[in-house]
Amino acid sequence: MSPLCMLTGASGNLGRSIRQLWPIYFPDQQLVLIDRNSATLEDRQSTADLLARIRPDIILHCAAISNPDRCDEQPETASRLHHEVTAQFAAHARRCSGWVLHCSTDFVFCGDVPGRRHEQDAAEPLNHYGCTKLAGEAAVLAEGSGLVARLALMHSPPPGGREGGWHRVQADLAAGRPVQGVVDEWRTPIAYADAAAILLTLARQRRTGLVHVGGPDVLSPHDLISRLAARMGSPSCIIPVSRDQFRSGHRRPRNVALATRRLADWLASGQLAAAS
Ligand SMILES: NC(=O)c1ccc[n+]([C@@H]2O[C@H](COP(=O)([O-])OP(=O)(O)OC[C@H]3O[C@@H](n4cnc5c(N)ncnc54)[C@H](OP(=O)(O)O)[C@@H]3O)[C@@H](O)[C@H]2O)c1
Repeated sequence: MSPLCMLTGASGNLGRSIRQLWPIYFPDQQLVLIDRNSATLEDRQSTADLLARIRPDIILHCAAISNPDRCDEQPETASRLHHEVTAQFAAHARRCSGWVLHCSTDFVFCGDVPGRRHEQDAAEPLNHYGCTKLAGEAAVLAEGSGLVARLALMHSPPPGGREGGWHRVQADLAAGRPVQGVVDEWRTPIAYADAAAILLTLARQRRTGLVHVGGPDVLSPHDLISRLAARMGSPSCIIPVSRDQFRSGHRRPRNVALATRRLADWLASGQLAAAS
């Protein structure tokens, strides 16, 4: 019997990107979609009930409060979704010899160190979002039943995806309106569709442990928006702003560029295995 797969956060941007690619990577396997209507995941019992009802072998856990500012406003829900639910999923995966994906974040790093961060570098989150995601990482790694993917900033959400900052940027670029871009933060951005393809490849390989998932180039948000504008042929003026001008109050890491050597090795060894 083929394994049963379950996707949380199915209505989110990464969830939608995974759903679009799923038939290509897992043509013979059904994907059970979990959104807030099917389960809120907000208490231990509802998560246990969900696991008992679906009995998934593979869990792609994309549900999250993905905005760090909203995590500060709803700290308990963030801890539940990012840590406790992840721990329940990881324990379930161990018990049934299954596999779980935890979508972690480059925000586990404090951002004060120059250069790219490697998987073995110390994680010191600056905000509640990063702390809860790091706690979820520890749970999965302790169970040994899945993969922790530390995702970089994702851009270019799929059509119909969850409304957010990128939709506004895309709409402004399409209309030729000016867009502000922060010049003094550095990321290794990756498009949602590319991140989804990588995660599904790693799911097929049933990789375990910790891996960084990001794009090849270290870019500021200003660089990234300028590239997107050029690709769209947008005449928009991209206004350079400092992080302090752009937002105040909430703590975000300055430089969380990710080193992705391990990812490149894993993807290459998968291709070799497929070819042999
Ligand atoms: N976006 C990035 O740049 C980025 C970077 C690094 C890591 N990540 C991580 O990657 C994953 C996917 O991110 P994304 O950008 O696709 O996020 P997203 O678009 O905000 O989607 C989040 C999903 O979680 C669901 N959700 C939120 N609260 C819930 C709750 N209490 N119960 C059940 N479902 C709930 C949302 O449902 P509703 O639509 O009903 O609210 C939505 O489907 C997340 O784990 C995020 O932390 C994202």
